[in-house]
Amino acid sequence: MPSRSAIHPLIALALASSIACFAIACGGEEPAAKPDPGKQTDEPTAGTGNEPSEPADPGNGEPEEPASEEPQAPDPEALAARGKAVYVANCIACHHTEPGLDGAIGPAVAGASADLLESRIMRAEYPEGYIPKRDTQLMIAMPYLESDLAALAAFLAPGS
Ligand code: HEC
Repeated sequence: MPSRSAIHPLIALALASSIACFAIACGGEEPAAKPDPGKQTDEPTAGTGNEPSEPADPGNGEPEEPASEEPQAPDPEALAARGKAVYVANCIACHHTEPGLDGAIGPAVAGASADLLESRIMRAEYPEGYIPKRDTQLMIAMPYLESDLAALAAFLAPGS
């Protein structure tokens, strides 16, 4: 057993980092346990009643709730607008800016279904049974666009 004076700074450091973790994970809630140099030495958490795993103090003046995921905008217009931006940024090198027209390299894509977009963009494939407009294989997969598929589909949706 090392002497207390040697181990104490380490405990303080460990506690400080666990407090930092809690602050991030729990949106700023303070864990109940703090290093108490007066009493706690070797065993800062075990059996002291100050368990840091259950911060029981939600109302400590931190107004921020963990705003974890951005709310999925149900607004179809906003989604389509984002899809347009994604399209312009990633597709018009080959496809026409006007999705209903054939582009320099790629064919018209207006009305492409979510299925078709998913297959093409994620894997450069086609949905089963789909008859491609071109039998070339020039388009590369762009799997980093996974989170934008819904927006692209909304933008290219039939009738939009
Ligand atoms: C490197 C050029 C290129 C880029 C970039 C590109 N495409 Fe393509 N795309 C093509 C070509 C060429 C085809 C025709 C099939 C082939 O050769 O792969 C095609 C086919 C498609 C098809 C199938 C059309 C059909 O009905 O057969 C869809 C849908 C499509 N692209 C959507 C997109 C979208 C959406 C983007 C942007 C995220 C994109 N493409 C980016 C070149 C490209």
